[in-house]
Parts: sequence; structure tokens; C-alpha cells
Amino acid sequence: MTHPMMDSTSRTPAKTLAGLAATALAAAAVVAAVTGPASAASGLGQLAAAQGRYFGTALANNHLGESAYATVADREFNSVTPENEMKWDATEPSRGSFTYTGGDAIVSHAQGHGQSVRGHTLVWHSQLPSWVSNGGFNAATLTSVMQNHISNVAGHYKGKLYAWDVVNEAFNDDGTRRQSVFQTTIGDSYIATAFQAARAADPTAKLYYNDYNIEGINSKSTAVYNMVKAFKQQGVPIDGVGLQTHLILGQVPSDLQANLQRFADLGVDVALTEVDVRMQTPADSGKLATQSANYAALTKACLNVTRCVGITVWGVTDKYSWVPDVFAGYGAPLLFDNSFNAKPAYTGVSGALGGGTSSPSPSASPTASPSPSASPTSSPNPGRSCSATYQKVNEWNNGFQAEVTVTNTGSSSIGGWTVTWAFPNGQKITQLWNGTLSQSGANVTVRNVSYNGTVAPNGSTTFGFTADWSGGNGTPSSVTCAAS
Ligand code: XIL
Repeated sequence: MTHPMMDSTSRTPAKTLAGLAATALAAAAVVAAVTGPASAASGLGQLAAAQGRYFGTALANNHLGESAYATVADREFNSVTPENEMKWDATEPSRGSFTYTGGDAIVSHAQGHGQSVRGHTLVWHSQLPSWVSNGGFNAATLTSVMQNHISNVAGHYKGKLYAWDVVNEAFNDDGTRRQSVFQTTIGDSYIATAFQAARAADPTAKLYYNDYNIEGINSKSTAVYNMVKAFKQQGVPIDGVGLQTHLILGQVPSDLQANLQRFADLGVDVALTEVDVRMQTPADSGKLATQSANYAALTKACLNVTRCVGITVWGVTDKYSWVPDVFAGYGAPLLFDNSFNAKPAYTGVSGALGGGTSSPSPSASPTASPSPSASPTSSPNPGRSCSATYQKVNEWNNGFQAEVTVTNTGSSSIGGWTVTWAFPNGQKITQLWNGTLSQSGANVTVRNVSYNGTVAPNGSTTFGFTADWSGGNGTPSSVTCAAS
């Protein structure tokens, strides 16, 4: 790959933008509080949901007050990742002093718009305050500093996040470990220690290792692959690998899908977590067409791998992309241009997701209640059986998150399951993962997705969702499961 190195030095100019963002947090919090009623995303999020996936964006608090920005973000995406607000410099700027203003505003905005949240990121060499990087701690102290950071931050968001990027960018391109302060002080074991701390702090968040230049099969992705394989053998709690996917125009690795599949075959989820496809500016129609084809190709690669759970683009609009600040001469890497108009890349993605190839009108608002896509019914197999248990894991003002565990209660393996219930108080699901949803009034039907239909006897699998409630939030009196 010919990607320019992305080191902390080259990010320095952009970091000042992150600093400015903090000053706008108070304003963003007010905006989040007065935003309208929750509605599931339409647009790309809805198309992805019909395929059992999510389509997300990085979200920046300091832009949420701009109506064009918020309109596109809320209409198109059903998952968000805080672009800077949950990083170490934002959450623990000085030792033991935690601030969650920016992250809380993003989570609240997401909850109000039916979007799940990927937490980003707990342990990273960049955007790390100097009290950590230059603290001169010994291994034992730095380990406890790291564990304390994770237990506080992941503990604060416990039950509210779909996933966490627990450790970010720990490898060099040649597959050796990056010489971060964590690596040089604690050694190789810091990554496993971080995952253990994250699991203890938030048992329901999916725990990811996240990195760039690991999209194709190469020395770096193979080093990550070997680490994940070892973690699975050793019982270190890892659930997923995030491929950042910061690409250069025309350079989607031809083995992206094969690489996703080899990770999935280790028993982890995979996701494209920070997608952008940068080009030398100015853009022209030829480059934009290539970019559209590149976005379509990476979307299809994900859809072709059953454990590729979703795609996140690293920003709503070219206008605020990090790319021009870090890669001189490059820009225009996202799906919406500087004026929030959908680019050819948008139709590349929507076409790949099975939608039309028309662009949304620039001012269109989110669809209030998209009709869930109907799934074909399959007749339950009488020789196979399952049960389902419903558990609320978190509840907040007018919203909640629940987890449903499906258990194979028969003596032979099942190949699929369908869980149904009726909500007693008009609750409405806004976002569901690890299942395919259809809700009609109070009645909810959830079917397995391709990667979790097969369950061994006595084995179980879970799906989760967020939903809106008002007035009451009773637990359904019966939750039934049919196996096939
Ligand atoms: C970037 C943000 O987009 C910028 O606003 C910030 O100044 C620097 O960080 N890999 C990551 C992301 O994991 O957190 C980075 O985000 C982009 C590269």
C-alpha cells in the first residue's frame, strides 16, 4: 500500500480543531435536548438494516447545531461514532478527572434518533494527554492508570454502547508493535489487559481492536490476525476487528473481502469503522465516478461476509473531513459534498445496499417511521425447539436497551430462529442488531441473521435493541421462540 504514514505528528494540525470542538459542546448539548421525537434513520441506515447491518457516520458535536449537518446525519445513518469526544484527551484530560460532556451529548443525540453508538476509543497513542505519555510511570502504575481510565469511561457508558474500540492502532505497517508508551512501558500484554478491563466495565458492549492499513492481507493485518487468534485461544474477551478503511482513490484492496472473511473465521465480528476514499483535489467527474465504484466495492465486500456487521464513514460531509488537515493536497473523501449534496459515491453505496441509485433531496428530513421490511416466513420445524429470554439492560428518559437470549432447548442443532412478542405499552424499536426486525404495532418479530441462525443444543446467541417508550415500559408477558 502507498498510504502516507499516519502518525501523531501528521495529525497535530487537526488536533487543534478537536480543541475548538470542546468550546461548542455546551451549545450542542442544548440542541440535543430540543431535538424532535426519536425516529429510526431512513436512507442508507434503513437500507443497511434491511440487510441485517448498520450504516454509520462519525459525528462531531461541534457541528450538530448546524441544521444541514444534523438533517443529513439523522436521515442517513443508524449508527454513530463520536469523532473525538470519547478519546482520552477529552474524557480524562488530567489524572482522575473525568469529563463526559461531549460524549454524553452524542449518546443523547443518537438515542433520540434511533442510532446505535460505537465508542471510540479507550487506549490509543494519539490524542493521549501528556500526563500519560510523559508521566514516567512504571509498568504497574501505567497498567492501573489504563485500567482506571477504562473502568471509568466504559463504566460511565455501560449498557449504552453497541461496541467499543478498546485498543486503536497498536501495530506498525511491518507487523511489529507500535512503540507507544503502553507498549514500551507495559509490553505486549497491555492489549489483553485493556480488553479484560473493558469487559468488566461494560459486559454488553462488543469489544473491538481497530486499526488502519489492515484492509488487505499484508504484514500488518496478519499481525492483527495472529493476535486475535491467540486471544480467542487464551480466552481474552475480543468480539470484533475494526478496519478503519481510510483509502486512497482507486486503491480498494482486491483481497478486502477475503481478509474480512479470514478474521470472521476466527469467530469475531468485523466492521469497516472509519471509511473515507480520498482523492487529490480538486475533484472532477472522473474521480467522483471512480470514488463511487470504490465505495460500492467496499460495501459489497462487507455484505458478502456474514459477520461484517456494518460500515461507518468517517464524517457526514467533505466540508468537515479530517483528510485535508492531515493529507496535504487530498480531500473530498466522503458521501456528501461541501454543500451537503449527495455525491456519486452516495449512489454507489445505496446501489450496493440494494436501494435505488437516486440521490436524496438535499433538504429531505428523516422519515418519521420507516416501515420495517417484511421477511419471508419459514414454518417452524417440529423436531427443533428454542426458548428466548428478554432482559432490559438499560433505561433512560423515553428510551431503553434490551437484550434477548435465544437458547436451543432441543437435542439437535437448529439452523434458524424466530422470536416474537407483543409490547404491553406501545414501545417502538428504533435499532436492532444481530437480528432482522419487523414490528407492526405492538407485535415484534425478530429472525436470525445469516451468522447466528445455527445454534448447537444447549447453546445460545443474543440479539439486542434500543427502543422508545413513554408512559410505561413493561416487559412483554410472553416471549416465544420457534426454531427451524
Ligand atoms: C481523527 C479526527 O477525525 C480528527 O478530528 C482529529 O483531529 C484526529 O483524529 N484514526 C482514528 C480516528 O482512529 O480517531 C482519527 O480521527 C482518524 C484516524
